[in-house]
Amino acid sequence: MSNLGIRRVAVLGAGTMGHGIAEVFAMSGFEVNLMDVSDEILRNALNRIRDSLERLSRRGELREGVDAIMSRIHTTTKVAEAVRDIDFLVEAVPENADLKKSIFREADQYAPPHAIFASNTSTIPITELSEATSRREKFVGMHFMNPPPLMKLVEITRGKYTSDDTVNITVQLTRILNKEPVVVNKDVPGFIVNRVLFRVMLEACREATQEGIKIVDLDAMARNVLGLPMGTFELLDYIGLDTSLFIVKAMTERGFKAHSCPLLEDLVSKGKLGVKSGEGFYKYPGPGQYVKPRVLPEQGLELDPIRLMAPAINELAWLVREGVATVDDIDKSVKLGLNYPWGLSEFADEAGIDNIVDALTQLKNASGWEEYEPDPLLTNYVKEGRLGRKSGRGFREYPGVEFRRYEEIMLRIDPPSAWIILNKPDKLNVLTPKMADEIVNALRSVEDDPRVRVVVITGSGRAFCAGADINQFQNATPMQMFKAMRHYHSMTLEIEYYTKPVIAAINAMPLVVVWRLLWPATSG
Ligand code: CAA
Repeated sequence: MSNLGIRRVAVLGAGTMGHGIAEVFAMSGFEVNLMDVSDEILRNALNRIRDSLERLSRRGELREGVDAIMSRIHTTTKVAEAVRDIDFLVEAVPENADLKKSIFREADQYAPPHAIFASNTSTIPITELSEATSRREKFVGMHFMNPPPLMKLVEITRGKYTSDDTVNITVQLTRILNKEPVVVNKDVPGFIVNRVLFRVMLEACREATQEGIKIVDLDAMARNVLGLPMGTFELLDYIGLDTSLFIVKAMTERGFKAHSCPLLEDLVSKGKLGVKSGEGFYKYPGPGQYVKPRVLPEQGLELDPIRLMAPAINELAWLVREGVATVDDIDKSVKLGLNYPWGLSEFADEAGIDNIVDALTQLKNASGWEEYEPDPLLTNYVKEGRLGRKSGRGFREYPGVEFRRYEEIMLRIDPPSAWIILNKPDKLNVLTPKMADEIVNALRSVEDDPRVRVVVITGSGRAFCAGADINQFQNATPMQMFKAMRHYHSMTLEIEYYTKPVIAAINAMPLVVVWRLLWPATSG
């Protein structure tokens, strides 16, 4: 029994999410009544839970044996039986408002009055569901991420009637489950994670359908360039294409401005539902058998990650402006709910908020789609010169960051380091006498600056610097070549005898992620 007075929990629905949620509660010592409509579904759920627990056990992540945890899970096909002596309930039946309401109505009759009801819905309004019960103030959204045993985040959503007590208990309970809660202050469709996630997915879908970019290349870019754990289409397969399509429809019906994805509609109409049916955007060995799609390390590097992420950053701005969540909570949500290696605000600040607005404007002009209209929060930031890290302030503050633009390089002083960026993103052979002089000047300008302890030189394109720009050698006289060499030699001598360490951050192809995240290639 937790000190919240919660000992027994009902999980209604033993499908993709329900079985994982039951597993998470049982792992934390709770007695769990797991309910679904047939014994076969329940047997299948228990097998999946055992399989997952065994995997966790092999990795040394369980505090007790698999059998001990399994013994706390009790199955039933009857709602009344599942909820009789519970303290907390999580509903995870399919995303159908009528079905959910009828289950809640029935559970409300048989569950003790003190029991809190939570819905794992990702799209249906919490307020609407709570109205099917007589315990509206004890009703809350508790949205786990797939797969629940591995994903840290739980979105906790307040409905119109939810009491502070209910929110607080659910937050504490989430922590007992060894998960991280984020409180969503307004009952908006898709809460935080799905609103952000489907912005990325729908943009990827548009690029595939309208521009003919290959799905596997877009996924490769998401993994190789952005460092995401799964490609966009891979994750759609993992979530389930029918579920994904349902989420998009349910959100758009409730005011989420978006154009649907014809590729999703087509596959669902053919019964290709992703991992669960054995085929979706990718083919799997069999139904329910997920195998990571293969992408090559150099694949997708030519695609634009800023454009893919711009609609999600726009969503971040909307969520903040509407008071749904704070910047910190949204960053936490994508890091823990989607396992992104960075927060959205961090990405925006690195990429440059002006570049995000430009990308959105281009998308809007090209498609005429209203959802690409840059959010006023972003356009105001640009007007105020809050461009992100490069200007010292964006979504976040970067005290002491200074940015100087030369003709061929940029200098960013970001104490204790200063970064010299060879600013010719389109070229591999970037070095010119002018660039060499500018490097010398930049080095000298920070040599006596006590804030700077190290200087890093890096590129801003596909490679660090493959050599001198050979165009300059065409038609050059021997004397002109000799003079050009003097510039290069003074630059190398400057580095050799410099009083602070100088590091070359060689952003060749495999390090493109580092480059993208540390260096806004298209900095305005
Ligand atoms: N239980 C226990 N262990 C599991 C497991 C499960 N359910 N699933 C995978 N694992 C284990 C694997 O066996 C593997 O273990 P070993 O290293 O010991 O072999 C380990 O976890 C890593 O798995 P994989 O090698 O298969 O794959 P991975 O490294 O890519 O990690 C992942 C898997 C954690 C799921 C990762 O791919 C990821 O973070 N993906 C993003 C998932 C995501 O975004 N989820 C949210 C979707 S949105 C949502 O859920 C909301 C909604 O409403 C739709």
